[in-house]
This record gives sequence, C-alpha cells and structure tokens, in this order.
Amino acid sequence: MKKALTLFETGDIDSITVGSTKGLCQIHKYLFDGLYEFADTLRKQNIAKGGFRFANALYLDAILPVIEKMPESSFEEIIAKYVEMNIAHPFMEGNGRTTRIWLDMILKKNLKRVINWQLVEKDSYLQAMERSPINDLELRVLLEPALTDKINDREIIFKGIEQSYYYEGYSKVK
Ligand SMILES: Nc1ncnc2c1ncn2[C@@H]1O[C@H](COP(=O)(O)OP(=O)(O)OP(=O)(O)O)[C@@H](O)[C@H]1O
Ligand SMILES: [Mg+2]
Repeated sequence: MKKALTLFETGDIDSITVGSTKGLCQIHKYLFDGLYEFADTLRKQNIAKGGFRFANALYLDAILPVIEKMPESSFEEIIAKYVEMNIAHPFMEGNGRTTRIWLDMILKKNLKRVINWQLVEKDSYLQAMERSPINDLELRVLLEPALTDKINDREIIFKGIEQSYYYEGYSKVK
C-alpha cells in the first residue's frame, strides 16, 4: 500500500504506458519489487483460483501482445480487456492489485473516469470476477455505477488503494 501511494504521490504513475503489458509489468514492479522475488516476471507455473485455471503459462508470451492491442474506446471494451488480462493472470501473486490500477489508468485516459473502489463491495467484486470469464455483465453492472470523474481526487485514489481486496488461496495446477 505504501508503494502504491508513492506511485501516485510522486506522479510516477503518469510515466507508465497505459493499457500495455509493459505498463502492467511496470506497476507490478513498482508495487512488489523487494517483496516478491518474481516482481515484474511472467509466471512459469500454471495457477488456479476458486476452481478456475488461469491461462497456461506456456501461452503468456503469445496472448499478452494480443490483449494489449484490444480496443479501449468504451466502458464495455475496457472491461472486456480487463477481463482478458485477469484470465492471463501473468504474475504468480499480486495480479488483482496490479491489474486494478492498470484498469483505472485505462479508464482515466480514455473516459476521463476512474472507479471509486470504496463503492465496490469486496464479496460482490470477487463473485463478479469469478463469473467474468464466462460473462462480464455482472462485473459491468457492479463497476459502472462506481465510475467517477473525480480523477485527480487523492481521497478517491487513496481510499481505493486502502480498500483491501486481499484474497488468499492459489492452488498450483499440475
Ligand atoms: N475464481 C476466479 N476467477 C477469475 N478471477 C478471479 C478468481 N478469483 C480471484 N480472481 C481475480 O484475481 C484477483 C486475485 O489475484 P492475485 O491473488 O494474484 O492478486 P492479489 O493482488 O494478490 O490479490 P487481491 O486482488 O485479492 O488484492 C482477484 O482480485 C480477482 O480479480
Ligand atoms: Mg493474492
């Protein structure tokens, strides 16, 4: 959380390439360098959560360039892109925290809006994320009312980061 606050406070967030794989890796490195030895490195193992298998590690190199080229011109397109990046789940840990910031930067750039995560209840969010590989309607219905145009309001950004979505429980897939 301290790292995330510094990311915004220093303005370093503005130097990150929005919507790209590189940008996602930059955010991950910023948040987790020194904490996880794998900060910024794509996973080599296959992982699952809640019975859902994320993308096979062997395919990450092939799918990430495709995901980063997905369009970002509407809320629907941006959520579709976010869902695909979640399915990719490129890191061993910290995908949720990294990808939510990545999503906010895409929304900010293209729609001049961000999500007020204070308004998003954790259990409903996780349920919508679990559903999202099949259908992202639930996620869109949950997140759209939480959009705000107060994109430079520190309170909203800080509260969003403070909000803990921490959720343990990966299982390695053999
Ligand atoms: N069953 C599932 N299917 C699809 N996506 C899921 C599932 N369970 C969790 N997720 C997504 O994965 C994220 C958790 O991934 P990960 O543990 O790598 O991130 P984190 O940053 O450590 O945790 P968190 O997002 O809980 O703060 C959740 O926030 C959610 O977006
Ligand atoms: Mg986690």
